[in-house]
Amino acid sequence: MVMMDDPFDLLRPMTVTVRVSAKVNLALGVGGLAPDGFHPLATVFEAICIYDEVAVTRRDDSRITLTVSGEDADQVPTDETNLAWRAVELVREEFASEWGKRGHGADIHIDKSIPVAGGMAGGSADAAGALMAAAALCRLPYSPEELQPLAAQLGSDVPFCLTGGVALGRGRGDRLAPVICRGRHRWVFATSNQGLSTPAVYRRFDELGGTPGGETVPNDLISALTRGDLDAVAASLSNDLQAAAIDLRPELEEVLTVGREVGALTALVSGSGPTCAFLVRDTAGAKKVSAAVSNLPQVHRTRTARGPAAGAQLLPGPVGS
Ligand code: C5P
Repeated sequence: MVMMDDPFDLLRPMTVTVRVSAKVNLALGVGGLAPDGFHPLATVFEAICIYDEVAVTRRDDSRITLTVSGEDADQVPTDETNLAWRAVELVREEFASEWGKRGHGADIHIDKSIPVAGGMAGGSADAAGALMAAAALCRLPYSPEELQPLAAQLGSDVPFCLTGGVALGRGRGDRLAPVICRGRHRWVFATSNQGLSTPAVYRRFDELGGTPGGETVPNDLISALTRGDLDAVAASLSNDLQAAAIDLRPELEEVLTVGREVGALTALVSGSGPTCAFLVRDTAGAKKVSAAVSNLPQVHRTRTARGPAAGAQLLPGPVGS
């Protein structure tokens, strides 16, 4: 029951659900470690049609709870270390009066399809979804652009997870500019049994000597995307974190090689890994790659998906539901 001390309360929805997409980095140029503990990036993100759904429901007390369903749900933290939890807390702190005078808490539910700790921004996507849902719950402006500053406080990939499409990310990856992309891309993704920690991969990148000046904007890739030239896109895909991810998980090399051998246009590690991403020409190519790599013992699961996808989107639902 919603108490009646705020006359606008009854006009507010009780639950808002947001659909968020995974991402792959088409290019991930990484510079040297900066004094703030982050690496300057020039990355091109593409949102992919693999979706999580994040529902946020207001509570009458001040508690926050988090539950998870779907693929690998048992690997997702259900406490304040989950970025989605922190997103709701951030909205509550920043917009205390709009959120509700009684200090409403929230129940967060995440239905997962995006691989967990797989280099596909699953946690960041959930944070973007929770941010948009919490903002919508208290009737704040919730367009992706307006939520960008809060998103950047939560994590480097969260701003892109709000906007989706294809974008160049600079700074920590949070300063975004849209990239025109003609045509769509077909992908196969091969996930691993065990995730990789993003900070650990960046650390190994430093230990291996880094790529000084790596944060150069990939103009060839951007031009290929704008022309819709699939072969030129395939030839321009790159990931400076790949060597570090393979150094931590040598078995990934074989996954990439097998995908290439059966006809993937390009095979690369997705973001900080360990998911391997294969760009393919058509459905037949996707089937071949998927069948070949799914036989490998180090591959947990394969998924085919298209990109680019939209960013965070409110799902229709009755007010008060
Ligand atoms: O921003 P996010 O929480 O995703 O970053 C996780 C970790 O990854 C950071 O603490 C940092 O160690 C590393 N990172 C980095 N440079 C970036 C982005 C992330 O070193 N541009």
